[in-house]
Amino acid sequence: ANVAIFISGTGSNMINLINQASNPSSYSNIRLVICNRPEAHGLERAREKGIEAICIPHGDDRHAFEDKIHQELIKRDIDFICLAGFMRILTGEFTQKWINRIINIHPSILPSFKGAHAVKLALEAGVKVTGCTAHFVSEEVDAGKIIAQEVVAVEEKDDEKTLHSKIQEKEHLMFPKVMEIVAKSIVCGI
Ligand code: GRF
Repeated sequence: ANVAIFISGTGSNMINLINQASNPSSYSNIRLVICNRPEAHGLERAREKGIEAICIPHGDDRHAFEDKIHQELIKRDIDFICLAGFMRILTGEFTQKWINRIINIHPSILPSFKGAHAVKLALEAGVKVTGCTAHFVSEEVDAGKIIAQEVVAVEEKDDEKTLHSKIQEKEHLMFPKVMEIVAKSIVCGI
């Protein structure tokens, strides 16, 4: 299955997806990386891995931004999209066009702690466990069908940085597996 990865930042999840797809038994073919921020380190990292990586700045017009993205995806015959730290909210129009074809990784056990500050919110709430969720993307933010979750224990000494990095270790193992499940289901038509 042809895969596009959307990023906004460092792209550590992206690298793990690319590595997974380079496995000969993989059902995933990473055709394109799209980033909305020109300075994002992830763009270079993708190119170093031999993957085409383009920047589409988000600008002010959501629809113009998403139209450009959609055209690039169609040009490359993309089957599905992995959001790997993509920090823009997609409109209902776009998510409808790609229904069941967009997956996201989020650093909490959804439906707890939605949004851009999930790790901070978990710490503030004083929870003893948190984790990560891979889910399909629907119009409502961080609310689509859950595919997989992994838990992480919160320790007394954790701050946002240490906790996020423990969560990311789990993300890096889980997200490539979820990508494979989705790719296989598309290739095998199930
Ligand atoms: C991850 O923690 C992911 O859960 C969240 O954004 C972060 C992206 O990190 N959506 P990276 O760019 O993959 O390192």
